[in-house]
Amino acid sequence: MGWHKPDNVAGSSAPAIMVGLFVATGGLLFGYDTGAINGILAMEPFKEDFSTGFKDDYGRPAMSPSQVSLIVAMLSAGTAVGALCSAPIGDRWGRRLSLIFAIGVFCIGGIFQVCATNVALLVVGRTVAGIGVGIVSVLVPLYQSEMAPKWIRGTLVCAYQLSITAGLLAASVVNILTYRLPSAAAYRIPIGLQLTWAVVLALGLLILPETPRYLVKRGLKDAAGLSLSRLRRLDITHPALIEELAEIQANHEYEMALGPDTYKDIIFGEPHLGRRTLTGCGLQMLQQLTGVNFIMYYGTTFFNGAGVEDPFTISLIIQVINMVSTIPGLFVVESWGRRRLLIVGAVGMAICQLLIAAFATASGNNNQWTQNIILIIFVAVYIFFFAASWGPVVWVVTSEIYPLKVRAKSMSVSTASNWILNFGIAYGSPYLVDTSNTAAGSVDLGSRVFFLWGAFCILSIAFVWYMVYETSKISLEQIDEMYERVDRAWNSRGFEPSWSFQQMRDFGFSDSGIPPVEPQLELQSSHTSTSHSDTAGSSTTNTTSTNSQDAKMLSQLGHVDLSY
Ligand code: BGC
Repeated sequence: MGWHKPDNVAGSSAPAIMVGLFVATGGLLFGYDTGAINGILAMEPFKEDFSTGFKDDYGRPAMSPSQVSLIVAMLSAGTAVGALCSAPIGDRWGRRLSLIFAIGVFCIGGIFQVCATNVALLVVGRTVAGIGVGIVSVLVPLYQSEMAPKWIRGTLVCAYQLSITAGLLAASVVNILTYRLPSAAAYRIPIGLQLTWAVVLALGLLILPETPRYLVKRGLKDAAGLSLSRLRRLDITHPALIEELAEIQANHEYEMALGPDTYKDIIFGEPHLGRRTLTGCGLQMLQQLTGVNFIMYYGTTFFNGAGVEDPFTISLIIQVINMVSTIPGLFVVESWGRRRLLIVGAVGMAICQLLIAAFATASGNNNQWTQNIILIIFVAVYIFFFAASWGPVVWVVTSEIYPLKVRAKSMSVSTASNWILNFGIAYGSPYLVDTSNTAAGSVDLGSRVFFLWGAFCILSIAFVWYMVYETSKISLEQIDEMYERVDRAWNSRGFEPSWSFQQMRDFGFSDSGIPPVEPQLELQSSHTSTSHSDTAGSSTTNTTSTNSQDAKMLSQLGHVDLSY
């Protein structure tokens, strides 16, 4: 298990871990908001209050399929917009302030929903809350990866997914507790409760530090040093801290030397920014195309239609599996690495989906009981594989593979692609599986829809093999080096970082980004020294001269790993 703080890492990782875990709870808003609607739509008081005349098969007030699609899907539409807005906001105001702003937007959307007495206001509220969730969904993993020590970075971002699943589960539990209430309280309580954690999170964020990498991007080196000093519990003058800061800064200067940081550059820029953006977008879209939200959003309704008794309880069990199964992923994401976990997960998911679809097709209308058992068991196993792999790891990889200069932009575009597909699936699923033909244009796939998701899981295996670089155990700056030096994703596991961006800066960046002649570098690496001035915490790195005091200090440091 790659969870051991290496003995030679200076300072303490505890503050960064605590901050990372606290910020991860932003996932609760994401999970709760997307999860609550599943049960709310099935509540009698909700249908009575919001129905505009549509009746179900028993003549009771109900929502029409198009209203259901609209209510479910508008949140995802809002999130896509929010994800796209997150980059300009996050780059201008900083990751932390933008997160606080996003939570404010989320709360306004939540208040609209609590007050709503008709579909229109409810949809507006969900869209506004969605914008907040969309910003949060980019900035939480971004914030975490930019401040975490490399040895635990993946696990911290996985904790974000754990919070998403906890939010989904909490929504199910609250729905079950309130759905029997005879009044509007049945649905208003679940909607209103989400505001409580939002307030706690916003208050907590007020006292957390901004990420050191963002501050370096803005040229605020002293502030970056202070932030790093809080996160690493190291004095601002400690050599390990100065070294880490200097490497982040030199790497950023190096990236900027290769070209600007505009939206055009996330596709055409160097080093290999187009490939990286494609990797992030592909992963995020495939995460949705594995069909997870078909189960999350419509699980209750689908199990009901398939004749499963007590679909509410089955959905609750699925949510528990979803949350608990994230934990194995958290444990192995560092030791197995991102690639292996994604491939194993996709193989497991594909097998489950194809088995469900094949059995349903082979049995037709016979063996309904066995079909249901197979459906429930393999949906549960599928969720296990998703939750331990593609659920968390997609967020981990997309928070790591981009260089600082375009990180917010590329993350926002890739996350938006997740939400756009999320929207498509939320909107299209009722039409894909509807067997009663009430929805115009429905394709009547029933359980055969799992063939579709299974096929995308197979595609995902190939995508990971060809596109995803192994990013565990190396710093965000070293990931930049890997993209330059390793041609093929499948060779990335054996990558050993060797460049120092500080050396490259001091010797001048060549056009190709290749570091200067080897002998010079070797000479320098044995003479690299770090000096600092105490004034106002400012520090400078000097690699050309070695004074005796620094040499003594470095010899004492000996085995300390200076790169996070
Ligand atoms: C996905 C969500 C999904 C959730 C399920 C997340 O990683 O992005 O769309 O609902 O996992 O746990």
